[in-house]
Amino acid sequence: MVRTLDDVERVGVVGAGTMGSGIAQVAAQAGYDVTMRDIEQDFVDSGFETIEDSLDRFVSRDSIDADEKAAILDRISGTTALSDLADCDVVVEAALEEMDVKQSIFTDLEDAVDDECLLATNTSTLSITTIASAIDSEERVVGLHFMNPVPVMEGVEIVEGEKSSSEALDLAHAFAEDLGKTTWESDDKPGFVANRILMPWINEGIRAFDEGVATKEDIDTGMELGTNVPMGPLTLADHIGLDICLHASETLHEELGDRYKPAYLLKRKVDAGDLGKKTGEGFYEYD
Ligand code: 3HC
Repeated sequence: MVRTLDDVERVGVVGAGTMGSGIAQVAAQAGYDVTMRDIEQDFVDSGFETIEDSLDRFVSRDSIDADEKAAILDRISGTTALSDLADCDVVVEAALEEMDVKQSIFTDLEDAVDDECLLATNTSTLSITTIASAIDSEERVVGLHFMNPVPVMEGVEIVEGEKSSSEALDLAHAFAEDLGKTTWESDDKPGFVANRILMPWINEGIRAFDEGVATKEDIDTGMELGTNVPMGPLTLADHIGLDICLHASETLHEELGDRYKPAYLLKRKVDAGDLGKKTGEGFYEYD
């Protein structure tokens, strides 16, 4: 049986990349003590840099002041040892999107934390049930899928695995809401709600560009102004990371068949190392 929200004090985050650092940040902003773990100190340091940059943006628009920024940073400790998550009440895993990696982390986590700790994964497309099958206490595993950029995106998808208990799901909803997010729930089916619908949209945008339907700018403008989304498909793909889009699309393709086939140009860009904003070039170029 997992704890209730009232008993949650310390949050563990596995992975200090874009998503992990964002999750650590929003948990600390909500007042939780946070332990953020990655496999190398450099990754932990870079997670802290991402958090500082994001907090600076909140300071610059007066959402928080410098003292609050310092207090938030103070609540986060970094580590490379998974055993340092031992006293956590909720752990969110945001490591690589590789089933073997996630299963091995969950196996280690089950040994490291106590029996009442909620074990959540931020996976975007992998099966919660398969991840949970690596451990004995499958009932406390749920999907807690944050959206990028975590500090500003309001939505969090809660995913119910085959064995997830109602207590674990309740805590996942309550915890995400306590971080100021709004939740929705998805069954454990490939891509859940968000990526099942988003990835074909992005791939179709890429195919439309590749097949000469319009310029990339006009495709993005058409979707932004025509359907009132904040970013068109090519800009959004760059923002998410083309490698992440390709990996998610491949998982969906494998599970759901040809209607999810990744666009050829997406694969070519990833092969060329043009992964979007993070490498300075994707469909657009960035400083
Ligand atoms: N930290 C803190 N603040 C941030 C921030 C960050 N990381 N990123 C943006 N902001 C703030 C800005 O300071 C600004 O605040 P203001 O409105 O009070 O001035 C506001 O957010 C808007 O920022 P910008 O002006 O730089 O840019 P935009 O107006 O384009 O907004 C955006 C940025 C919120 C990212 C918006 O473009 C957007 O909503 N884009 C779509 C994002 C999206 O769809 N994400 C989901 C991707 S799918 C996913 O994550 C699932 C995964 O599994 C793949």
